[in-house]
Amino acid sequence: MTSPTSLPVALITGASRGIGRAIADELAPTHHLLLGGRDGAALKELASSYPSAEPFALDVREATASSVEGIDTLDVLVHSAGVLRMGTIAELDDDAWRESFEINVFAVAKLTRLLLPALRAAGGQVIAINSGSGYNSGAGSAVYSGTKFALRALTDALREEERANGVRVSSIHPGRVATDMQAELHDYEGKEYSPGSWIQPSQVAKAVRLAVDAS
Ligand SMILES: NC(=O)c1ccc[n+]([C@@H]2O[C@H](COP(=O)([O-])OP(=O)(O)OC[C@H]3O[C@@H](n4cnc5c(N)ncnc54)[C@H](OP(=O)(O)O)[C@@H]3O)[C@@H](O)[C@H]2O)c1
Repeated sequence: MTSPTSLPVALITGASRGIGRAIADELAPTHHLLLGGRDGAALKELASSYPSAEPFALDVREATASSVEGIDTLDVLVHSAGVLRMGTIAELDDDAWRESFEINVFAVAKLTRLLLPALRAAGGQVIAINSGSGYNSGAGSAVYSGTKFALRALTDALREEERANGVRVSSIHPGRVATDMQAELHDYEGKEYSPGSWIQPSQVAKAVRLAVDAS
């Protein structure tokens, strides 16, 4: 895939909802967008609402070389797809651990690896939507924080490894953001959810914009 226009290209995983969707809104005026998510029809409709966009429909766990075939240059790769599985060590089984690490960490590593040639070709950048949970853990948060600590290890390593190749790496660590994931967390906590009380997805997207535009 090469941009059908002369716009730089941004691939955003998790663009169907929440933070990823807000990042798509933010980058739409300046980038050709590849919109990640699992529902191809919904992504097609979303793509039609932007000046220049197309679906990148895929369960991130199933990315292969053929998923990225044709992406020869890539200016921005945003990893926003993620899941939150809350529960104590006593409660959560192997599948909960495995699913979270597969989506939040292993898929990020794999998609990055598959796209590094295109990122190097463009002198592009990788932006990971991490979390405050990439620095802190607590009761019920071992799985989620574990994945986000690991994601920080990944991005810290990648930043050093790719410095000489001209690929920049940023890690963004928001607090609580008003998305479906936040509603899930409130359910787990047994608290009433009030979206207006939390960071808005568009505000996180502004942080991504800052990273994208920085020299
Ligand atoms: N919300 C918060 O408070 C908060 C705070 C800090 C960091 N974060 C991080 O920000 C990122 C985005 O979170 P969010 O709040 O926007 O979450 P969200 O509203 O629950 O949206 C999750 C996104 O991830 C995608 N996704 C999940 N599993 C996937 C899979 N197996 N393959 C492909 N796509 C998959 C979903 O796609 P589908 O539509 O196809 O399901 C959706 O686009 C996550 O990495 C999260 O950890 C969130």
